[in-house]
Amino acid sequence: MKRDILTFAEINKDELEQLLESTDELKEALSDGHLEKPFKDKSAVLIFEKPSTRTRVSFEIALWQLGGQPIVLNSTDMQLGRGETIEDTGRVLSRYCDIIIIRTFKHENVEKLASSASVPVINALSDMYHPCQALADLFTIREIKGDLKGRKIAYTGDGNNVCHSLLLAAATAGMDMAVAAPSRYMPDRKVVEKAEEIALTNRCSVLVTDDVSLAVKEADVLYTDVWVSMGDEEEALDRIKVLKDYQINEDVLSMANEDAIVMHCMPAHRGEEITSGVMDGQSSVVFEQAENRLHAQKALLKWILGSD
Ligand code: CP
Ligand code: NVA
Repeated sequence: MKRDILTFAEINKDELEQLLESTDELKEALSDGHLEKPFKDKSAVLIFEKPSTRTRVSFEIALWQLGGQPIVLNSTDMQLGRGETIEDTGRVLSRYCDIIIIRTFKHENVEKLASSASVPVINALSDMYHPCQALADLFTIREIKGDLKGRKIAYTGDGNNVCHSLLLAAATAGMDMAVAAPSRYMPDRKVVEKAEEIALTNRCSVLVTDDVSLAVKEADVLYTDVWVSMGDEEEALDRIKVLKDYQINEDVLSMANEDAIVMHCMPAHRGEEITSGVMDGQSSVVFEQAENRLHAQKALLKWILGSD
């Protein structure tokens, strides 16, 4: 059976552990100069409907380092941009390549692509989820803090796609997660319920509040993301006004554990959701996080394409 990664909930606890181990091995192998090329007969199509720096470059280089052939397309260069359906696109691409990676607006498009394609589909960000980011994030926390179980992550700001996949990922890893967001921009209720269901099995907790100090209390990790995601530009003024009390700054950092780390998926809007002082400060691991996208996605590709 093909394995699609659309939200993060497709990965169970044991599989997550294996993926994190494999990420570690691949990162070490790269730094030792050992590049295996298990994908020499494999190709991937990457469809981007929105801009990307980290996801696009890290996936392309990941595929290249594994010996595969990536083909990156902007949806406007494809017949998709002229009205061909996502389902027909999925059926056609499946006859050429081994895996499809897509960044799109509507999460529904990712689901339609996955159900029509006979090859695996990876969500490279939709309006609802960003699973590849969450995988790299867990790896980064584990690298710095060790065992994930029992650690607390506090996310402040917009309850968006990054927050959603992180909720699912943290619960799968047995981490407590608290989200502080204003009522208008809280994470989707269904996603929170799914995270709570996973958390129950893994004996950890999920808290959603509008109180930043409650969320960040005793946190090992502080996390934030932009207040205006791609596609939300029309709401920019309102979002900036409503979310201003959810910034990660020195005061908020001082309310967390003394050795708390600060994370951001990037791109950051310095001075909005995070101050430059915190982003460039000693607690920040944002560039490690960005680097780990490469290693984590290599592990994900190896697992999905069955060469692990
Ligand atoms: N974090 C992330 O997905 O960055 P890009 O938008 O640059 O890919
Ligand atoms: N929430 C952001 C993440 C960017 C990587 C967005 O969707 O624009």
